[in-house]
Amino acid sequence: MIYVPITFILFFYYYSHSQAYQSIISLSVSGNEFQPANIIELIGTFNVSLSIQCLSLCNQNPQCRTIDYESISYRCRLYEGQLSTGESRTSSSTTSIVAGIRYDDSNLYSSYNQTCDQCQQNHYLVCGTNGTCQCPNNTYWNGSICLNQIYNGSTCTTDNMCRSDMSITCSPFKQCSCGLKWNETSILVAGTGTAGSGLNQLHLPEYIYLDDNNTLYISDTFNYRIMKYLNGASAGIQIVGNGTVGSLSTQLHNPSAVYSDMYNNIYVDDTFNYRVQYFVNSSRNASTIAGGLGSGSALNKIGLSYGMFVDKYSNLYLSDEQNNRVVKWNSTAMHGVVIAGGNGAGSASNQLNGPMGIYIDGNNDLFIADANNNRIQKWLQNTSNGTTVAGGHGSGIGAEQLNFASAVKVDSQGNIYIADRSNSRVQLWTKNAVQGITILGNASQLRSPFDIILDEKTGAIYVSDRSAHKVVKFLFSTQC
Ligand SMILES: *[C@@H]1O[C@H](CO)[C@@H](O)[C@H](O)[C@H]1NC(C)=O
Ligand SMILES: *[C@@H]1O[C@H](CO)[C@@H](O)[C@H](O)[C@H]1NC(C)=O
Ligand SMILES: *[C@@H]1O[C@H](CO)[C@@H](O)[C@H](O)[C@H]1NC(C)=O
Ligand SMILES: *[C@@H]1O[C@H](CO)[C@@H](O)[C@H](O)[C@H]1NC(C)=O
Ligand SMILES: *[C@@H]1O[C@H](CO)[C@@H](O)[C@H](O)[C@H]1NC(C)=O
Ligand SMILES: *[C@@H]1O[C@H](CO)[C@@H](O)[C@H](O)[C@H]1NC(C)=O
Ligand SMILES: *[C@@H]1O[C@H](CO)[C@@H](O)[C@H](O)[C@H]1NC(C)=O
Ligand SMILES: *[C@@H]1O[C@H](CO)[C@@H](O)[C@H](O)[C@H]1NC(C)=O
Ligand SMILES: *[C@@H]1O[C@H](CO)[C@@H](O)[C@H](O)[C@H]1NC(C)=O
Ligand SMILES: *[C@@H]1O[C@H](CO)[C@@H](O)[C@H](O)[C@H]1NC(C)=O
Ligand SMILES: *[C@@H]1O[C@H](CO)[C@@H](O)[C@H](O)[C@H]1NC(C)=O
Ligand SMILES: *[C@@H]1O[C@H](CO)[C@@H](O)[C@H](O)[C@H]1NC(C)=O
Repeated sequence: MIYVPITFILFFYYYSHSQAYQSIISLSVSGNEFQPANIIELIGTFNVSLSIQCLSLCNQNPQCRTIDYESISYRCRLYEGQLSTGESRTSSSTTSIVAGIRYDDSNLYSSYNQTCDQCQQNHYLVCGTNGTCQCPNNTYWNGSICLNQIYNGSTCTTDNMCRSDMSITCSPFKQCSCGLKWNETSILVAGTGTAGSGLNQLHLPEYIYLDDNNTLYISDTFNYRIMKYLNGASAGIQIVGNGTVGSLSTQLHNPSAVYSDMYNNIYVDDTFNYRVQYFVNSSRNASTIAGGLGSGSALNKIGLSYGMFVDKYSNLYLSDEQNNRVVKWNSTAMHGVVIAGGNGAGSASNQLNGPMGIYIDGNNDLFIADANNNRIQKWLQNTSNGTTVAGGHGSGIGAEQLNFASAVKVDSQGNIYIADRSNSRVQLWTKNAVQGITILGNASQLRSPFDIILDEKTGAIYVSDRSAHKVVKFLFSTQC
């Protein structure tokens, strides 16, 4: 696009006012027309005999940011989109021009959020319902100017950046989208679908962990090992567990959960050894950092446990399924502290029944897949009772029900994602919802989704499909 450096100020006077209604225009050379980011940005087509009249029409309409004018047919088109959000491209008509109002000067917005008397006849701001000067429709305040709202698929940080009139919002994954939807075509990440112990195979994989580099760690439970898959790899690396069941420091017995910190120190919930193993720098020899004293309910012991979370202070949280409790072990602890349940199997608010996967959000709230109660419990820090945030209506396939949920994750907006294992589906309960929606397990064929990982950078969901002996991935969809 070639612009002649003509910038001129267009004055437009209203009959009863002496104030100028002005804006600054950039004009293209002849032979160009405007291609907006989306066709809905066309405000209207008018028939006027001079380009200046077309500009005047735009100038009077706070919604208008760009025009193109064709002087033979007198066609004047007004667009919402700012020149920089669309494209000025070569027209079949040599007499067509494009002109855009300039917006890059924050001085034009000095009356923003002031009382409406400050922005009468102002091209840049409109009088809002509360009597203050606000951004025109389909634009948003970015802190200094009003910018055009953007469409599905564009990067955002707040809802008001996205086209609110089209019900597009900013997803937790920082993309404008029409709700939370995933493409149900699965992408194979690990395993072949057949049980085996080759480096490209898995045998009843349970929990998984994804680090910041998109390296995936898989608890390859019935191969008694942990596999590491670099992003895009077709086979894994056997990092810990020598592959033979046992209780030596190099061995694991049906490991369930795995975590890797930023130094590649690996934590493994070594379920049938009643212990948590720590492999410093991914060495093959572990030290036991919790349990290891056989099954039992004393605080220095761990029963069969499924579900583990490690926070940034290296505090270890374990879902002790057998003891119906969640315990916390700090990095120097010789015994755990019960932080949820521990009052026997049951469904009272201070009880759990067979807790599986756990998750701790940024507020330190604990979410528990309370599997045998078919519910997700939320426990605030230092409280003795939980509240049900999903399920709790018995075992079943209804939208308000769950069936042996084995994992829970929560995104930055408080939406809850559940591996609804025995229903072969992944459920989403938006914040404060009274029922869930199935986001995976409709078109996609899942057998027993044991664990899910939400890649918050892109919205991709990884699913460990235990009885299908594989890990698959589903991409977030910004389609409307
Ligand atoms: C535009 O206006 C001119 C002059 O009034 C007229 O001749 C022409 O037919 C109009 N064009 C359209 C498309 O209405
Ligand atoms: C607008 O003014 C109100 C009331 O003074 C204030 O609370 C609000 O933060 C202001 N908004 C912006 C974006 O400056
Ligand atoms: C007026 O409403 C807008 C939203 O439309 C809001 O951002 C602003 O803070 C309100 N201003 C005042 C003074 O209440
Ligand atoms: C702006 O949007 C509101 C709400 O959709 C609508 O009522 C109003 O008419 C629009 N204003 C203009 C100038 O289009
Ligand atoms: C708003 O957007 C303009 C144009 O992109 C930019 O120059 C300005 O720094 C932005 N303001 C803020 C507060 O980000
Ligand atoms: C869904 O994903 C598949 C495979 O990645 C792709 O071929 C297809 O085009 C996607 N569908 C949509 C609607 O994005
Ligand atoms: C794992 O280590 C044990 C003990 O040294 C050994 O008996 C076993 O053969 C090893 N397994 C493999 C697959 O190397
Ligand atoms: C990710 O990769 C970078 C560069 O290789 C490395 O410095 C960083 O420690 C890695 N992060 C994790 C979590 O492994
Ligand atoms: C782990 O690796 C780091 C960096 O490579 C090194 O500084 C540290 O000494 C290692 N720790 C052990 C226990 O080997
Ligand atoms: C760690 O846990 C132990 C109980 O095992 C407790 O005595 C100790 O005070 C805790 N340390 C910290 C820093 O919380
Ligand atoms: C916690 O649950 C128990 C058992 O239902 C109940 O007796 C107790 O009142 C509850 N405490 C609170 C603070 O809700
Ligand atoms: C936005 O939604 C429309 C309508 O479904 C679709 O055609 C388009 O591909 C979507 N854009 C992106 C980037 O997802």
